[in-house]
Amino acid sequence: MSAFHGSDLEKIEEKYGIPRDEIISFAANVSPLGISQGLIDAMKDQIRCIERYPERDYSRLRKAVGTYCKADPEHIIVGNGSSELIGDVIKYRAGKTALIVAPAYSEYERYVKLAGGTPVYHDLKEEEDFRFDLKALYERTDDDALRDGLLIICNPLNPTSTAVRAEDMRDILKLCEKKNITCVVDETYVDFADEEYDMSYLTKEYRSLFVIRSMSKFFSAPGLRLGYAITSDDRLKSAVEEIKDPWSVSSFSEAAARYMLTDKEYIKEVGEYIECERERVCRKLDELKAKGLKYYEPKANFVLVKLPDKGVKADGLFELAIRQGMMIRDCSTFRGLDESYIRFCFMRKEDDDRLIGLITETVD
Ligand SMILES: Cc1ncc(COP(=O)(O)O)c(C=O)c1O
Repeated sequence: MSAFHGSDLEKIEEKYGIPRDEIISFAANVSPLGISQGLIDAMKDQIRCIERYPERDYSRLRKAVGTYCKADPEHIIVGNGSSELIGDVIKYRAGKTALIVAPAYSEYERYVKLAGGTPVYHDLKEEEDFRFDLKALYERTDDDALRDGLLIICNPLNPTSTAVRAEDMRDILKLCEKKNITCVVDETYVDFADEEYDMSYLTKEYRSLFVIRSMSKFFSAPGLRLGYAITSDDRLKSAVEEIKDPWSVSSFSEAAARYMLTDKEYIKEVGEYIECERERVCRKLDELKAKGLKYYEPKANFVLVKLPDKGVKADGLFELAIRQGMMIRDCSTFRGLDESYIRFCFMRKEDDDRLIGLITETVD
């Protein structure tokens, strides 16, 4: 089994004897730029904040989030990573049916089942390059079993890196209002994508929309455990807040996040770096198309690749890569994918070149 999760570095260390600090994680989808020196310096002076409880309603943090994503601070809920908020909104619809756009991040299904609900799927098709077919999704959402339930969309979608434009969601959001469906859009990767994919502004118009964001990936801070949700539905917001544990975001995370969200120079640098690297890696992958390799136009900071029919499979490539200290994602365990799919995120140029070099060798 080589379908390790991107954060399974300890397991890799144990199995392959490679120290975790030496593994280049192409599987975690975290920006390679790390945190800024400015943040490190600022937090040295802030350490005593852990002597206090965080604000109960996180008003200062919600204000910083609101400014960052142009949302009303009153519409924001902060949480312990996007994971906490995904779990909580699913608990709010406990026991109901949840339509999940697939292939998808496996935690949605786990949370739905834990909450006694029934996961059902809208499968994107490989023949359509995993693009969102909104007409088919509309028809699937119109099923009566979904009334009072959930529609869960990851946008851009992990693992395909394909995405739906915000404006194209209006009909589905209207349908969700009519059927009392909460439409959860997981925008964990949206900071890496073009603005047209960001749905947060639509929360003002559609109370059915519950947007979830994370600081783990774009801000290189998965250990901070900070996520937030945006909704204009007061009832939904209060219900989710009721489910949440108090003070689930630490005073330290609160202070760090306030700094990070206002660091415009850093935000610009990460956005520009990933945009350039995405373009550069895709041009290199284009050269491998003649050998039967296929990839799907990525909108986020990672790409899904289908390996040629003949030759090495995902587990074989995983083994070859990990022996060189590079950890990619074998996607065979995702619904709708098989052993011919791998996913990797864009890291530093020299690392990306090394991985592309290895892929080139295996498809030659
Ligand atoms: C689609 C998606 N949503 C949510 C998460 C969890 O993010 P967080 O660290 O904010 O809990 C991940 C992590 O890999 C993810 O890929």
